[in-house]
Amino acid sequence: MGIHVIVGGQWGDEGKGKIVDYFSDNADIVARYQGGANAGHTVFIGEDQFVLHQIPSGILREKTRCLLGAGMVIDPIELTREIEELQERGIRCNDQIGVAYNAHLVLPIHKILDGISEDANDEQFIGTTRRGIGPTYADRHGRIGVPAHLLLDRTGFEEAVQTHLRHANRIVEKIYGQPTHQFEEFREQLERAREAVSPLITDVSNEILTALDQDNHIITEGAQGVMLDLDYGSYPYVTSSHPGTAGVSVGLGVPPNAITRSTGIFKAYCTRVGEGPFPTEIDDKDKSVRLREAGGEYGATTGRPRRCGWFDGVLAKYSIAINGFTDICITKADVLSEFDEIPVAENYESQNGFLNVQKLDEVTPSFTNYPGWKTDISGATSFDEFPDAFQDYLAAIERISGAPISLVSVGPERNQIVVR
Ligand code: IMP
Repeated sequence: MGIHVIVGGQWGDEGKGKIVDYFSDNADIVARYQGGANAGHTVFIGEDQFVLHQIPSGILREKTRCLLGAGMVIDPIELTREIEELQERGIRCNDQIGVAYNAHLVLPIHKILDGISEDANDEQFIGTTRRGIGPTYADRHGRIGVPAHLLLDRTGFEEAVQTHLRHANRIVEKIYGQPTHQFEEFREQLERAREAVSPLITDVSNEILTALDQDNHIITEGAQGVMLDLDYGSYPYVTSSHPGTAGVSVGLGVPPNAITRSTGIFKAYCTRVGEGPFPTEIDDKDKSVRLREAGGEYGATTGRPRRCGWFDGVLAKYSIAINGFTDICITKADVLSEFDEIPVAENYESQNGFLNVQKLDEVTPSFTNYPGWKTDISGATSFDEFPDAFQDYLAAIERISGAPISLVSVGPERNQIVVR
């Protein structure tokens, strides 16, 4: 059967949680392969809203094994809280969750460092989620991080955290001139989390390879989006991991040729949170506020208002090309129903002879306006029921971006999905 990869094709917040939940009906495994608690994946089941930060969205299906892969940076304190919150809401989940022994841990000092480096960095403020993502990946790459398997040995874990803290304190004090932190501040919280998370430690790569041998149904859930990729996004205004298809192999320890389907998730328009260039951002304040309110565009993790823009066909084409998306899903299409006309960026004028995604502040997009459909599509159950203008809009997205649309989401609820 192979692995079905689900990736955010834009700047994150494309509505991946709902789509992963849809595809994970009958999935044996849903695995996250990068990022951490910076993600906020929302799934509605009837009136109930679930926002998942580190646990894969498959947790809302009873029999699905949910794995947190080695490419993630895992905050054990937040993970414990997330598990407890799900349990309080009747989602029995402990035996469903596995944490890769070789994933790295986000420690309290990483979150502190994320905050103070953002506060100190006026010239290059990134607008991170302050969840400690960048500092933890930096330590992993600098080979001074704390891998998850250390949770299995209380003494070894405490020693590793203390050694790490001595190093981090030098940065806190000498670079940022801030007061240092002592292990005692975090001991109790960390020990509670260690006790909760250590039984979940597993060999994620081996679990998935075994499942592949047994022809199981495996889904991977990307967090953030392709334009926030460390290397292929709008650096430095990016996250510190690889949200695209290629991140799956290294993030889970599986061969690239085990991937048989790669689905890109695209919102029918664009949003971005945090700083950084955004070529199709709407300048007209009234229109952008209208779109934000219609789409409820506020961060699921931080509550920050999202910047709003029109569909960017140039970046969609780029995203599809570098990820090899076999098909794409369009989400939040219903949000556009109230607009008279809907612009789509089809080309950029750029100063380089090539698309330099690190210089998106220098491009000028040229837009084509598509007529709005001005009809409520949230109850549609088949493509044939879509108004002509909406069908034309979808056809334009396919033509410009170069990938077939397999599914359109027309509302927040689990059943508001139109499959082609
Ligand atoms: P970090 O991942 O917290 O380091 O933040 C780096 C950049 O990625 C910032 O612009 C964040 O707003 C953005 N970002 C991180 N996680 C998400 C997400 O789940 N959705 C959208 N943007 C995100």
